[in-house]
Amino acid sequence: MLSTAGKPPNLRKARKRDAIADAIARRADEIERDPKRERQAMLRFLAYLKPSAHYFVIASLCGVTIYLVPNLIPTAVGYVLDHILGTGGSASASPAKANALFRMLDFYIAHTVGSGASKAARIQVLLGSLLVFLPFWGILVFFRAYFAGIGGQRVIFKLRNDLYEHIQSLSLSYFQRERSGSIVSRLTSDVALAQNFIGNACTNLWMDSLSILILGGFLLTLDRKLALTAFAVLPLWILSVRLFGQQIRKASHAVQEGLSEMSGQVQEKMSGVTVVQAFAREKREVRLFHRLHRSLLVRQVTAVRLASFNMAMSNLLTTIAPVIVVWVGALEVLHGKLTPGTLLMFWAFLGTFYGPLQRITDLAAVISNASAAIERIFQIFDICPEVKEKENAITLPGRIHGKVEFDHVWFGYDENPILKDISLTIQPGEVVAFVGPSGAGKSTLIQLVPRLYDVTKGAIRVDGRDIRDFKKSWFRSFIGMVLQDNILFTGSIRDNILYGRPDADDDAVVEAAIAGNAHDFIESQADGYDTEIGERGTKLSGGQKQRIAITRAFLRDPRILILDEATSALDSESERLIQAALNRLMIGRTTLIIAHRLSTILHADKIVVMDKGRIVEQGKHADLLANGGLYYELYKAQFEHALSVHDAAKEILNEESDSSDPYAEHVR
Ligand SMILES: Nc1ncnc2c1ncn2[C@@H]1O[C@H](COP(=O)(O)OP(=O)(O)OP(=O)(O)O)[C@@H](O)[C@H]1O
Ligand SMILES: [Mg+2]
Repeated sequence: MLSTAGKPPNLRKARKRDAIADAIARRADEIERDPKRERQAMLRFLAYLKPSAHYFVIASLCGVTIYLVPNLIPTAVGYVLDHILGTGGSASASPAKANALFRMLDFYIAHTVGSGASKAARIQVLLGSLLVFLPFWGILVFFRAYFAGIGGQRVIFKLRNDLYEHIQSLSLSYFQRERSGSIVSRLTSDVALAQNFIGNACTNLWMDSLSILILGGFLLTLDRKLALTAFAVLPLWILSVRLFGQQIRKASHAVQEGLSEMSGQVQEKMSGVTVVQAFAREKREVRLFHRLHRSLLVRQVTAVRLASFNMAMSNLLTTIAPVIVVWVGALEVLHGKLTPGTLLMFWAFLGTFYGPLQRITDLAAVISNASAAIERIFQIFDICPEVKEKENAITLPGRIHGKVEFDHVWFGYDENPILKDISLTIQPGEVVAFVGPSGAGKSTLIQLVPRLYDVTKGAIRVDGRDIRDFKKSWFRSFIGMVLQDNILFTGSIRDNILYGRPDADDDAVVEAAIAGNAHDFIESQADGYDTEIGERGTKLSGGQKQRIAITRAFLRDPRILILDEATSALDSESERLIQAALNRLMIGRTTLIIAHRLSTILHADKIVVMDKGRIVEQGKHADLLANGGLYYELYKAQFEHALSVHDAAKEILNEESDSSDPYAEHVR
């Protein structure tokens, strides 16, 4: 007995839902993380920065200046205090090196108003010059942000393009393993995190490290004792950054995986919204989403907690340190080793010293997040297309003739063989109909021809050459497919037809549409060929979609035609139009057709009967019927009943059949 048996059904249901969400969330966690691989991914990513390196160098240099220039203000204040207002007593009271900046200002004033000028005049020229100089600082701020931004955008532009190109090159099996939403999430949210890395991290890291080095060196020359006191926090700071960095990276990886799971879920349920609504499962879907989202929230809370700890720790360190420095410094002033002006200047400089330090701490979180995302991005780059193109792949002069041979072909999606030892020769222009029970492997077989998958054993030859020798795009340009579930894309009817051959002109489109029996219905649409058909062609009927797909194949003018007939029968008018279009399309092309309609089967030059991955019979309709084998069984189960109904209807209506209707002709 199950332990939940005694629980109320609602609770049990909720438990089940939780289990589903937990399983989905667990799947996201199962991906192993490998620091070495992460580092390698980072190096590969940095290679992307190279072409835009000049942007980052300029931005970083501007940045360093930006952080150093504000130090002029405390320098000026210290100078005014010590050298103009005279709070520091005699200038000799301060250490000689500490006066390096003050001496420069002495020099400047001597060469502008003259060292003998009144205090007011010296203050005026000093602070006036500062006011004139500072607007240039604003310009530098602009250039820093601008160049860092442009550089970042360029890198991401290239990275995203390359990633999409790589994804497009992957084999069908990849798309069957991965959910489309999760692929989208890599292209969007992971890439956005990587962008964050460049935008913030790359330039800031450089800039801040450089600022720390320059300022640190300067502080040392200003007053060694005070500087060493200020540096005392550094080891603690480094320890805290390293400690939290690791954990933040882990948490961020979990967040990104959770996000990608959630987008996968949303994308799938959005595209299947009809089923969700028809089965009134909205509430269940909402609850499943809430659960997934909660699991994401938990991860995010962990990530936020770690980032906050990290920030608090470094804030604490950089706030305490100046107090100690002022303490030590004040004692120095008391002993006459330091002027108040220099102490003030030193204290103000500490702000610009700890500022970058603080930012690097925050950056550690950004870098951790980004490196997790970057690793996920390069994981995709590492996936090789299973259907590979040979290095020395060939194209033949002219078009192919279309002789197709299956030579002892074996195939399985995994180690389980689905097709077993298929041998079959199809002559150019021949129409071969594949029939057989559901799951026999018919669709699998025809998908091997355009190399959507590669055979496991044996070979498929076209015009006598193994199809793996051909250049994929060249070879596929001679193949047209019309499938059960015809996929159309957002755009106009014309765009969708042109998908078959983008360089075709309007006349060719119309010609193809006439041949595909689609022209009349297209013309009757509000905008004709420019009518928008909605996502996946949702604004069209099933029969209309099919005729657009046939038109698309017509325009392509393929040598080898692959048809997977729709199983669900359309109304007889639609059937007639489609059948006539298909018959026209097959003329002069090698055709492999998975047939569900008797008319198509009778039309074929050869019928191939498949069962459990093998060819069990082949021949003409009459011969196969006479054999009394599987074909005979299928025929009886599928068509005899339909025929008798058809005949009865014909008798009742006493209808005269339309001789131009190939469907009626065959059935008669
Ligand atoms: N992508 C896939 N991954 C794993 N197994 C698959 C995949 N596609 C199909 N199969 C399996 O391969 C077998 C043959 O499927 P296939 O689609 O070729 O059958 P079919 O003859 O076209 O059937 P139907 O007439 O119902 O369309 C089935 O057992 C199916 O479960
Ligand atoms: Mg099928």
